[in-house]
Amino acid sequence: MRPLTNIYVFACVFTCTLWNNIQPTVENEFIANYSSNLLTNVPKNISVHTHVLDLSHNKISGLSISEFISLPDLQVLNLSHNLITELDFSIFTFNEDLGYLDLSHNNILKVYCQTLPYLRHLDLSFNKFTALPICQEFGNMFRLEYLGLSAAMIRRSDFMYIIHLQLHTVILTLEDFSLYESQSLTALNTRNLDIVFAANQNFIFSLLYDGMSTAENLRIVNLRYTLSYKDFPAPPLTLLKKIKTTALVLDTVDLQWAIILQIFLLIWYSPVEHLTVRNLTFRGPVSELPEHELLLFLGSLEQLISSGGSMKTLTLEHVRNRAYYFNQEILYRQFSEMNIASLTIYDAYMPHMLCPNRTSSFQSLNFSHNALTDELFQNCHTLTDLKLLILQRNKFESLPKVSFMTSHMKSLKYLDVSGNLLRHDAADVQCRWAESLTELDLSSNQLMDAVFECLPVNIKKLHLQSNQITRVPKGLAELKSLEELNLAQNSLADLPGCGGFTSLEVLNVEMNLILTPSADFFQSCTRVRELQAGHNPFRCSCELQDFVRLERRSGGKLAGWPAAYVCEYPEDLKGTQLKDFHLSELACNATLLLVTALLLTLALVAVVAFLCIFLDAPWYVRMTWQWTQTKRRARQSRPEEQESVLQFHAFISYSERDSLWVKNELIPNLEKGEGCVQLCQHERNFIPGKSIVENIINCIEKSYKSIFVLSPNFVQSEWCHYELYFAHHKLFSESSNSLILILLEPIPPYVIPARYHKLKALMAKRTYLEWPKERSKRALFWANLRAAISINLPISFEANEEQSEVTSTSSISQHVNN
Ligand SMILES: *[C@@H]1O[C@H](CO)[C@@H](O)[C@H](O)[C@H]1NC(C)=O
Repeated sequence: MRPLTNIYVFACVFTCTLWNNIQPTVENEFIANYSSNLLTNVPKNISVHTHVLDLSHNKISGLSISEFISLPDLQVLNLSHNLITELDFSIFTFNEDLGYLDLSHNNILKVYCQTLPYLRHLDLSFNKFTALPICQEFGNMFRLEYLGLSAAMIRRSDFMYIIHLQLHTVILTLEDFSLYESQSLTALNTRNLDIVFAANQNFIFSLLYDGMSTAENLRIVNLRYTLSYKDFPAPPLTLLKKIKTTALVLDTVDLQWAIILQIFLLIWYSPVEHLTVRNLTFRGPVSELPEHELLLFLGSLEQLISSGGSMKTLTLEHVRNRAYYFNQEILYRQFSEMNIASLTIYDAYMPHMLCPNRTSSFQSLNFSHNALTDELFQNCHTLTDLKLLILQRNKFESLPKVSFMTSHMKSLKYLDVSGNLLRHDAADVQCRWAESLTELDLSSNQLMDAVFECLPVNIKKLHLQSNQITRVPKGLAELKSLEELNLAQNSLADLPGCGGFTSLEVLNVEMNLILTPSADFFQSCTRVRELQAGHNPFRCSCELQDFVRLERRSGGKLAGWPAAYVCEYPEDLKGTQLKDFHLSELACNATLLLVTALLLTLALVAVVAFLCIFLDAPWYVRMTWQWTQTKRRARQSRPEEQESVLQFHAFISYSERDSLWVKNELIPNLEKGEGCVQLCQHERNFIPGKSIVENIINCIEKSYKSIFVLSPNFVQSEWCHYELYFAHHKLFSESSNSLILILLEPIPPYVIPARYHKLKALMAKRTYLEWPKERSKRALFWANLRAAISINLPISFEANEEQSEVTSTSSISQHVNN
């Protein structure tokens, strides 16, 4: 059978997918979710391996065996919220693993039964059945735990096929309900019973009474009764002995006062331990109940309530009062004298509650979302067993008054007064808290820094988020037991130190105004193991980097790292996560920066001073500048002159005081004879109208070599030094060996001024020609010199033209060398 089916299925899957485009939301291959797809039929391309098939919220109106035969592994089928009108159980014959079948919220009128022995969960609630759809075959579904049914009438015989089944939960939805034969429900065998009655009909109270005799946990939705109180069917006295319910939930209750009181009495007498009433509206007029009868009634109620029954927990949520006249004082008295452990009155516009007259059994009170004020439980000495008190979202204003309220609650451990209007400014008011208090929730109030003057000394957990705290005053609060402190969403500018909180382990300062948390936090708060500091407007600076480094070193205590830690300032780093933000050591260490800057400045000053003092840098700068200026001017004015470069063999530089030797010895010796050396001598060859420097440069430029006649006189002459400088400059720029030094007289090194270091260097490095004193050596000297100068000048050069200018320049050269 199986292989054949599979072949059929594959063929179908293949052909059907071609024209059926609806695709399920795929979670995995076993779950097919077609919910809310406007389907009118079960899709044909569902995977054979599907275990869970969700077809809820579609428009499917009919089912057939062919749609499910191809899904042998189906375990959960959800067809709720469709338009199915008829159901034949035989279509699931081949789905042997089917355990969950949800057909709620359809229009089913009729079922054709067949035993589905594996079914554990069958939901037929919210359908259009007239009679309960329980057929004989259900009696064989021994695994059934959950059964949802709907009907317009219930008869005593309806449950007879399933009375032997041990059910867990039964849901009955009773729309358009017309008939209930009393005692019908009691045949059911279930732990939990849910009855959802029609919203717009008068409730049939025997359903409540029978339900209470049927299930341990009973929930009834929609208890309305608009008829006169006099027509209300009072609970039978015999009922009390049969009640099984211990937890009762009544949801959406809209009844007159008198009826509510009757039901309340019944419940109070019964074994019900936990009563929850949600969405309770009570109506008048109370006057329909004769006054004396009411008083009698309330009297017995009070007696009963204070004497205590089984009731342990009473919860009233969302209570609305539509009675015209209604003495609330009586009601508060009833509540306050209740002999139960836990009372919740939530969202009831309750403005007040009385202090119990006798020592109360209350261990837990929750009056959240009401209109209670600072007057609550002032000077109340009877709530000595109270451990937990929740007063969220009321109208408390004074923190000291709240502390006085607790001062007699010897067992109070937990107090929640969050979401009130609490303030504490006056420093002179002393607070007095219950010493037993270990957890206090003061979040979402209007508390400021002064709150730290008014806190319970033994507190372990303190919630102060969403207040207006700007800083934790040092030395004010000594909370030695404090382990957890929540200061999120305040206006803190820095982390609090742990001076007063020696046991602090968890600190939350998220969403404050902390720009730069101080890094000494880790020294003062050694026991903190978790710090939640994210979502602050961090300024990414050196201090912050220090903080993060210390934090990392202390083992990573930041909760929410790194996503919640983002730079807000400076603007260019906004949005950068703190983990990606780094500054260099130099940028962060001010001393280091200062020292470095100082050293650099000193070094610079030293270099400049050295250059100026020892190397005469300004002089060189001036000279170089003049050189370049001259060169530029020369290039601009007479470009043709560029071509006529070398006109002389040598330029002679000498001190005026050595001129005798130059004229009598050097010039005659060089210019005579075969070599015919052309010399440029500034006395002879200076061009008038040019500056001295220009003339010198010109002469050097036009000469192949430069001869320097060195003597102590030379050293003394500034102009000579110029000439040497320019010649040397040329020497380097053309990298030719064009300097010739003649040492006329020995120059002791100390004679050379310090700034003429170039001369010193030249003399130290170069071999110079020494003018011999002995006549016999002089021939060699001249030969040497000649050899040093010897070069063939271009033929085109003739010095004749310039010779004519010589005489006119001699006056300048005189001037030059002085
Ligand atoms: C079926 O779907 C409805 C609506 O989506 C959901 O409330 C219900 O729990 C589902 N039933 C089962 C058995 O999963």
